[in-house]
Amino acid sequence: MILLERGVFASAWALHICSVRPMAAEHEIPGEIIQHYEEDYDEAERLFSGGWGQVELLRTKELVSRYLPETPSRIIDIGAGPGVYAAWLTDLGHEVHLIDPVARHIEQAKERSDDIAVVEIGDARSLDYPNDSFDMALMLGPLYHLIEREDRVRALSEARRVTKTGCPVVVAAINRFASAIDLLHSGTIDEPEFRAIAERDMVDGVHLNTTEDPRFFTTAYFHRAEDLERELSDAGLTGVELLAVESIAWAAPDLDERVADPEKRRDLLDLLRKLEREETLLAATGHLLAVGWATSD
Ligand SMILES: C[S@@+](CC[C@H](N)C(=O)[O-])C[C@H]1O[C@@H](n2cnc3c(N)ncnc32)[C@H](O)[C@@H]1O
Repeated sequence: MILLERGVFASAWALHICSVRPMAAEHEIPGEIIQHYEEDYDEAERLFSGGWGQVELLRTKELVSRYLPETPSRIIDIGAGPGVYAAWLTDLGHEVHLIDPVARHIEQAKERSDDIAVVEIGDARSLDYPNDSFDMALMLGPLYHLIEREDRVRALSEARRVTKTGCPVVVAAINRFASAIDLLHSGTIDEPEFRAIAERDMVDGVHLNTTEDPRFFTTAYFHRAEDLERELSDAGLTGVELLAVESIAWAAPDLDERVADPEKRRDLLDLLRKLEREETLLAATGHLLAVGWATSD
């Protein structure tokens, strides 16, 4: 599985809506997304179970490391989930503020580390911080679940606003063709319902799980690289760079073993590093990472 290891996609539930915080009542998150993370899928395990998750984790850390400000700095991790990256950055000596709308993730992040400076419920579209509060912003998840462009640009603008001018905003997106790759890799191409979902993803990026099969994630948006770049620019971020996180790691037939073996892992990561900026391969990765630089309002 390319997107979320095995068990990428979660069941489709009735589309009930729930607010995430009283102060941002205008921002609602579809109930099936909350249901996915609260009950159907344990996000805390994803990056540690098998080769796919490990490659995403190792590569994301490597890419984020290149943009890290000097220690100690203030970093906001927006949509941080169970806090894997927030705990890592905290251990490196940074003051990390973790925001996520899922109560279970907030509890899991607190269990993962006592030292994360702030761990709070919140929504990427409305951050409860003044302008210029942070030396870096991470947003590795919210864009997956904001299917309206206006919401995505709003979330990116908020990340820019709370980040000091000239500092980096690092954003992850799921690639438009990730589910098509996944169909072949997992063999679910033989299942017509899954094929129909992936074919729809390819058309406009809006991913809706019309089955009750938890392998097929939940309501999401899958980006084309050029659209992601434009969204960051429209949010006022400059100098946008695009990088492939996993690139074509899925082509390795022995990914689990390769990642477990230090020498083979080094060779794999070396290859992925060489491919990360190859524009023609950006459509073949699971996740895209975009980095832009904050400007003032
Ligand atoms: C696949 S998880 C990624 C978690 C973590 N950042 C990582 O990369 O491992 C996506 C995260 O986005 C969060 N999310 C979804 N919608 C959001 C929103 N509107 N604002 C902030 N976070 C959101 C989810 O709760 C979830 O924790």
